[in-house]
Amino acid sequence: MNGENILVVSMTNRNESLTLHLAREYVERLEAAGIPANLYSLTELPANFLVEEMYGRRSEAFMAVESAMAQAEFYLFVVPEYNGSYPGVGKVFIDAMPREIWKGKTASLAGASSGRFGNARGLDHLNAVLNYLQVTVLPFRAHYPYLERILEHDFWPADAETEMRRHVADIAAALRRPVAVGV
Ligand SMILES: Cc1cc2nc3c(=O)[nH]c(=O)nc-3n(C[C@H](O)[C@H](O)[C@H](O)COP(=O)(O)O)c2cc1C
Repeated sequence: MNGENILVVSMTNRNESLTLHLAREYVERLEAAGIPANLYSLTELPANFLVEEMYGRRSEAFMAVESAMAQAEFYLFVVPEYNGSYPGVGKVFIDAMPREIWKGKTASLAGASSGRFGNARGLDHLNAVLNYLQVTVLPFRAHYPYLERILEHDFWPADAETEMRRHVADIAAALRRPVAVGV
């Protein structure tokens, strides 16, 4: 893996999603650490996705998404907790992709929640699915409990800041990139 092609995936299609803000923060922090990354949010899924893009069916517009997923070598999944797991739309998204895009890729996971667990269980569930698809998942997983507290104010609490820095450093190490001082 040379890690040239990194895709941050925000794993919900909820329109007012706070996870998407967190995913954007990751893109900025990775960029600041010298790791350019693209962003895909499941809010961009076509409205008729369930009918038009599943089980081998593909619209021309969605081909670009499949191609971005196929070309990425490293995924950072930013994943909200929905009912004690990762969102169902995230599993549908995975099921819509051709199986062969996954094998040999690497992923890292960040979990977010309103409650106090930062989607620990949901990341376990997603980890199991990705391992089944022969994706290597980095062992360090970031958790952002009480996400509203973090994002509805204009500052990052110290624990969230520490988590973010550790995570970016962990990704940089996996990609064998030196991390800029202070990032
Ligand atoms: C359908 C749904 C189920 C949820 N279930 C949980 C949950 O089980 N535990 C929790 O801590 N937060 C739960 N939440 C709150 C989200 O984790 C919270 O909204 C957080 O901001 C991230 O989700 P968002 O990107 O949709 O904003 C749920 C939210 C939704 C929309």
